[in-house]
Amino acid sequence: MYNLLKGKKGIIFGALDSKSIAWKVAERAHEEGAKFVLTNAPVALRLGTISELAEITGSQVIPADATSIMDLENLIDKAMKVLGGKIDFVLHSIGMSVNVRRGNHYTHQDYNFTKTGWDVSALSFHRVMSVLYAKNAMKEWGSIVALTYMAAQRVFPDYNDMADNKAYLESVARSFGYFFGRDKKVRVNTISQSPTATTAGSGVKGFDGFIAYAEKMSPLGNATAVECADYTISLFSDLTKKVTLQNLFHDGGFSNMGISTAIMDDFMKDYENDNTEEPVEKSKK
Ligand SMILES: NC(=O)c1ccc[n+]([C@@H]2O[C@H](COP(=O)([O-])OP(=O)(O)OC[C@H]3O[C@@H](n4cnc5c(N)ncnc54)[C@H](O)[C@@H]3O)[C@@H](O)[C@H]2O)c1
Repeated sequence: MYNLLKGKKGIIFGALDSKSIAWKVAERAHEEGAKFVLTNAPVALRLGTISELAEITGSQVIPADATSIMDLENLIDKAMKVLGGKIDFVLHSIGMSVNVRRGNHYTHQDYNFTKTGWDVSALSFHRVMSVLYAKNAMKEWGSIVALTYMAAQRVFPDYNDMADNKAYLESVARSFGYFFGRDKKVRVNTISQSPTATTAGSGVKGFDGFIAYAEKMSPLGNATAVECADYTISLFSDLTKKVTLQNLFHDGGFSNMGISTAIMDDFMKDYENDNTEEPVEKSKK
């Protein structure tokens, strides 16, 4: 490819199976010449297929629950030992909502589940950066990226409490990014990715409709997991050294759309049908 990450060392969180965005990032980072450690929660190591990825990319897997400081300290110490020095790039690709899993409506959450989801999906990013910062583990001009979704800014009713978690995650990227930039010359950004068919993505209610809608709304169509990996690689590379504290939309243009002709055509078909038949019951918006 382009050798964009030649000689760089990294830590990649969140590859569960071959559909995971982190999996694609690992494959692309390997192609671009990086060496890295893969990590995931111990339970995910048992349920997923990360060892296959480790074999393909010649990497070591070090388990870490991203809600445990002890696990993260162990991970970062071992990663620096295995890789032989400080870290150039880190991918946080972690998300999970217990309320979504259990089918609890946004208006009626179990707040213990809410806390767990926030801890795993959002606070974990602060925790990861806090350990990297304290251990002075990042190399100057290194890059830290987390994945997010546009429900942090706009309403997507079925995204549930993950919307709030993503808003928090993006804020942490800016706030911690300031200190990482000022003190360590390290950049911190979030990538706001199109809906993507992965284990986490498919957990969202009505996901198929959601992905089809975004596809029709975006002038370039939805961004795939592989395309997200390409974009992530560019942020890990030396070509984006002064990009920091940003939430970067990677969504085929969706985030700046109001309406597309494809969506309008579909709407008009329904509208015309509705107006030629007897109204039955108005659906809820
Ligand atoms: N799929 C989408 O539509 C989409 C869109 C935008 C953003 N994202 C974000 O991309 C990221 C990756 O998700 P994905 O779509 O690849 O799904 P995925 O299910 O493959 O990845 C989520 C990962 O989080 C890991 N994880 C859960 N709890 C953890 C813990 N306690 N410690 C460490 N790791 C833990 C899981 O094991 C899994 O590997 C998430 O932040 C997600 O919110 C996904």
